[in-house]
Amino acid sequence: MRKWLAYSGATIAVIGIVYGVAGAQVAQTSSTGADDADARAAAIVEQMTADEKTILTHGVMAIHLGPDPAPFPPDAIPGAGYVPGIPRLNIPALKETDASLGVSYVGGLRNDGATALPSGLAMASTWNPGLMEEGGRMIGSEARAKGFNVLLAGGVNLMRDPRNGRNFEYLGEDPLLAGELVGHAIRGIQSNNIISTIKHLALNGQETGRKFADVQISEAAAHESDLLAFKIGIEIGNPGSVMCAYNRIKGEQACDSDWLLNKVLKDDWGYKGFVMSDWGAVPGLQAAIHGLDQQSGEQLDPDVFFDETLGEMARKDEAYATRLDDMNKRILWAIYANGVDAHPAKPGGEIDFDANGDVAEEVAKQGVVLLRNERSILPLAKNTKRIAIIGGFADSGVMSGAGSSQVMGEGGAAILIPLTASDGPISIFRNQAYHRSSPLKAIREMAPKADIRYRDGRYISNAVAQAKKADVAIVFATQWSTEGYDQPDLTLPYNQDALIAAVAEANPNTIVVLETGGPVLMPWLHETAAVVQAWYPGARGGEAIASILFGETNPSGRLPITFPASENQLPRPKVDGFDIYEGDFSGRPPSQDAELIVDYDIEGSDVGYRWNARKGYEALFPFGYGLSYTSFEMSGLDTDGSTATFEVKNTGKRTGANVAQLYLVSRNGQVKQRLAGYKRVMLKPGRSEIVTLSIDPRVLADWTEEGWLIPEGVYEFALGDNAEKLGSVVAVELEESLFQD
Ligand code: BGC
Repeated sequence: MRKWLAYSGATIAVIGIVYGVAGAQVAQTSSTGADDADARAAAIVEQMTADEKTILTHGVMAIHLGPDPAPFPPDAIPGAGYVPGIPRLNIPALKETDASLGVSYVGGLRNDGATALPSGLAMASTWNPGLMEEGGRMIGSEARAKGFNVLLAGGVNLMRDPRNGRNFEYLGEDPLLAGELVGHAIRGIQSNNIISTIKHLALNGQETGRKFADVQISEAAAHESDLLAFKIGIEIGNPGSVMCAYNRIKGEQACDSDWLLNKVLKDDWGYKGFVMSDWGAVPGLQAAIHGLDQQSGEQLDPDVFFDETLGEMARKDEAYATRLDDMNKRILWAIYANGVDAHPAKPGGEIDFDANGDVAEEVAKQGVVLLRNERSILPLAKNTKRIAIIGGFADSGVMSGAGSSQVMGEGGAAILIPLTASDGPISIFRNQAYHRSSPLKAIREMAPKADIRYRDGRYISNAVAQAKKADVAIVFATQWSTEGYDQPDLTLPYNQDALIAAVAEANPNTIVVLETGGPVLMPWLHETAAVVQAWYPGARGGEAIASILFGETNPSGRLPITFPASENQLPRPKVDGFDIYEGDFSGRPPSQDAELIVDYDIEGSDVGYRWNARKGYEALFPFGYGLSYTSFEMSGLDTDGSTATFEVKNTGKRTGANVAQLYLVSRNGQVKQRLAGYKRVMLKPGRSEIVTLSIDPRVLADWTEEGWLIPEGVYEFALGDNAEKLGSVVAVELEESLFQD
């Protein structure tokens, strides 16, 4: 039974609130010159010749593809993309690199080293917008130092399926949390006078058949979930560009969707920047009319549509001519609003890898989630005598996710395991890489006098023998995931479940450290003493893990996703199409040759914990969950539905941070769970803080064609340690209100 169903002590406050505008987030310009960027862009478009008007509207992938690749322009840097500039008009070339988690390494083409932040889910586990911004600033500065001025960052697709191979790049399942975090990351990136994207608009929830998966979802449900994350991210971060997604939405390719790009993004939301396509996501010239402004990675499409073909069309057809001017204006707006021309990025800039590593380490420390800690086995005493460390290549490094977001540190990977010998176009993604940050070494530094033995875990008998001799056994378990490929299920691969079970049986003080892309099932959970969710912890992951294990860092991460108790709890017990299209992610052009319906109307906007609330399911670990080495109490919730105040107190013996969470629990007696606000609060033992949150009215509302509608009625709120463990309910009566965002 879900715990919050048994609440008591509800109080009723009768308050009428009329919302004029979405109050919590105010659109901000992120960089220099945003105010006059419009006027400048319009004036420059006036000066462009017909030929110049198709220069900025398309670009190549700056990687040599195929047997006879065309040479790149001399100023192109190997990376995801290159769009030439127009020197006559002082318009810089756009040099694009992937960068959700750091400046990416493009399959080893550029071995210049970059700082890897922990995975998106690790970042989201911090629930810390300020730290997101710092991380964004850091990766933006590295991109700039390498000469890039466009970062293909800002992945904010909601986790609708825990088996999605790209979950590790994104920020979880909740639109408020993910939207605010991505907005701050973008703000940090763009503070370097470079452009950031937000991606992939929208509903790109699985890799299986990603170019033709046809998502079915009602408009209202889309606005209340995935689109809300984008909207909030755009309001806070004001990204110069939006990258549209590979998949189809109700029969239309996302990059060719008049509804999504023109109506929602540009008309309803008033977005001023430009829409770039994902690489190989453009089905035809008409995408320009449907709102696409730039064709990226054009070698990957069936044709280059946005070059002379577009120019010729513009000469014949007024609608294309108007659009072409608008496309240029939008691209120029992004350049001028971010000062890309005034502060040109040049290769060869200095990078302080030590300082940037510190940022990555702080994110990892705040992002590790302590899932289980029986008998307070953690933190470990530094004088623990004998420690067995098992598996996960923990002697060498920490796991990284793969795909276009892959980052490599200075000196390359600690270990790189090719998973295919094929030379197919995406085979460079199928390398299992470990960053050079050895947990074993970091643990040795924490406990220099301990007898610490490492066993790689290939042979269970050998691991068990070592575990038996130790006071504590720490098993590192990994689940690699990559762009382009979903997990078939939620088990740990390579028989690691059996390894953990055997070690836990041999030693009751077994601690499991999980380096996974997303949630996994844990059949061995109750046999273990502790479980530490470390995600892909980035450039200094080993140090961060050791710091948590030995208590130098008090864990404060909270899950930004639900860990299901079983795949049967999911809206789709299997990934749609996996049986037929397993691994079919990039080979096909976005044409009509395959059918794959993905029905998101099943859960609608009830993604993750919202779905569990609706169904009454209890998760293995719920959204918002995470333990600490201290304890907290939250009390005194007072809310009028617009703001909320309460007290958070550290009732334990150590300094630590709590993530206070406020949930809408029900509306007019119907279960309707929504994260309504949150704050990470750092407190010394015995200290308390009064927290005030403002509630974004959109999380309470229904999206309708007329606007956001808050129906009249009784809204129940509660503070939560997580989405399932909620405190007393406070009920508020709200008047009906209709507002626009
Ligand atoms: C990915 C994008 C990425 C692009 C360029 C695509 O395959 O979906 O996220 O930015 O490649 O590398």
